[in-house]
Amino acid sequence: MRKTSVYDCHVIPLNKINDLAGNTTVVEGNRNIPFNLRRIYYLYDIPGGESRGGHAHRELHQLIVAASGSFEVLLDDGENKKIVRLDRPNFGLLVLPGIWRELMEFSSGAICIVLASHKYDKSDYMRNYNAFVQFKKSLTSATN
Ligand code: TYD
Repeated sequence: MRKTSVYDCHVIPLNKINDLAGNTTVVEGNRNIPFNLRRIYYLYDIPGGESRGGHAHRELHQLIVAASGSFEVLLDDGENKKIVRLDRPNFGLLVLPGIWRELMEFSSGAICIVLASHKYDKSDYMRNYNAFVQFKKSLTSATN
């Protein structure tokens, strides 16, 4: 696995088709986002003060979008941390494999859409933070 950093994860501006009847944003895999799109899921009805995520993926690429409301995404590559606030439906945060993420500070009624590069695969998750950090360190020493 390539050693990814939080600095490789950035906000991608998406298109916005303005219309008097309302706006439209279109996302096509490998065109507006740098991966093949195989799955979409969304988080909603998130109770106040709740956080989501708390894991990293081995292979999965994701684009996280605040379709409604706002929230924060904490990114962590085992060495560096970065917090990104999402609050516009026409911007998405690219989260690469090998990045720990936590979603928090959801506004009331927030809807988080996640566009994902692969179908759901339990074995792609790393859910133990200390094991994740050790894994990242092993990648560092392997590539140095
Ligand atoms: P999970 O990924 O643990 O949520 P989060 O990291 O956002 O807090 O997923 C929540 C639940 O939904 C968990 O029981 C697994 C299930 N799930 C699927 O069955 N398929 C999916 O594609 C996803 C994303 C989750």
